Amino acid sequence: MEFHTELPALRQLFLTLMTNTLRMNILIIGSGGREHALAWKLAQSPECSTLFIAPGNAGTPSVGINLDIKTHEFNRIAGAIRDLGIGLLVIGPEQPLADGLTDFLHAEAGLKDLLIVGPGRLGAQLESSKDFAKAFMLRHGIPTAAYLSVNADTLDKGLQFLQGMRAPYVLKADGLAAGKGVIITESFQEAADTLRDMLGGRFGKASATVVIEEFLKGVELSVFALTDGISYCLLPEAKDYKRIGEGDTGPNTGGMGSVSPVPFARKDFMRKVEQRIVEPTVQGLAREGIPYKGFLFFGLMNVQGEPYVIEYNVRMGDPETQSVMPRITSDLVPLLCAAARAELAGHTLEISPSHALTIVLASGGYPDAFEKGFPIMGLEEATEALVFQAGTAPDDEGKAFTAGGRVLSVTALAPNAAEARAHAYAAAGLIQFENSYMRPDLGLDLITGDLPIS
Ligand code: AMP
Ligand code: GLY
Repeated sequence: MEFHTELPALRQLFLTLMTNTLRMNILIIGSGGREHALAWKLAQSPECSTLFIAPGNAGTPSVGINLDIKTHEFNRIAGAIRDLGIGLLVIGPEQPLADGLTDFLHAEAGLKDLLIVGPGRLGAQLESSKDFAKAFMLRHGIPTAAYLSVNADTLDKGLQFLQGMRAPYVLKADGLAAGKGVIITESFQEAADTLRDMLGGRFGKASATVVIEEFLKGVELSVFALTDGISYCLLPEAKDYKRIGEGDTGPNTGGMGSVSPVPFARKDFMRKVEQRIVEPTVQGLAREGIPYKGFLFFGLMNVQGEPYVIEYNVRMGDPETQSVMPRITSDLVPLLCAAARAELAGHTLEISPSHALTIVLASGGYPDAFEKGFPIMGLEEATEALVFQAGTAPDDEGKAFTAGGRVLSVTALAPNAAEARAHAYAAAGLIQFENSYMRPDLGLDLITGDLPIS
């Protein structure tokens, strides 16, 4: 008799123990639309127990718990990881990666084996130093634009190199410059003046070295991989819309919208991307003894069907993540854990054939000066789409106010690009705040066939 009563109880205990060992607390570092989209995806995992976001935004409490810790507060992040029993850490933005958050945490007592998605300082140089990235590509035969790196001592060589090039001229600050460190100009004189200006400190230390680059004419594409430094898994590709104005006009921004999939990212093109770019990058890191567990973002230019690397980022893109995450149908948590454990080989990702289109709602004036602190209305009405918040902050009652340039993004999924576009604009139209701005032409190039097919 006793057996009959005890057995289910034992089984229950066993199941509870199993479930608890499979489930883990997860912490995401960051506060943007990218982090909200990641949080939305990870919170759906049966393997996620409690999800925390530090610091998060006014939208992330819908899927997790915000921690009032800034991304540069490494000691407080370590404390929270210990106090909350975090099993998996995902680092969203580039700055803490470049500043060595991963190395810092792994050197902390008791955190040596913490699962972290995000490379250490060495690997993060692929983004934090354009000079490093260009030299890396050269060493591994990865296609990229011809270039010369110069500093104040080699200005003359830089001017000579510029003279030997044709317009437009591309100048890039070596270091992180909040997405503003690339200057493209048509006039040689302006390029020469800009070079002097940058080396003179226009972007502070970030432009003490400047990369002068050949201009590549083509269409851009963002390719994402998750890697453990040995194997990799491709995520859905995306394209973002960088300029502020309709028809790709006006200044560059962090990104005003995104689409996924991208029509020209067909099998043959993607095979070239993998063989010429993704594989040699992962192998190059391994060969140079640079451990890398995290996302790798390849900013590519399709030049008449041939892929070239414009830039590496060591994180997911924003607002690309908002279009990419909804297209991933399989659980991402086991994959992230496998990457962090260097056991990614053999893992795959299921991807929906649906089309995603993301519209960024920005504060009027962005990317220059803008006002903030306006209440955001209509969030509850935009139920036909996914709303990922970014530059928002909650008031005492948790209501969202504008608190940044890119305020939020609206993503719609549909069987084709035209429907995704229509749904996303319909939903975005329901959300209002003073001085809001969105580009009216996102995704039109897909529908009108302005994008090359291959
Ligand atoms: P990055 O910050 O490196 O992504 O550069 C910002 C933007 O400048 C890119 O998204 C491209 O639109 C443009 N760009 C950068 N490098 C080049 C290049 N070599 N040729 C043409 N456009 C470029
Ligand atoms: N959308 C481009 C980036 O995240 O850098």
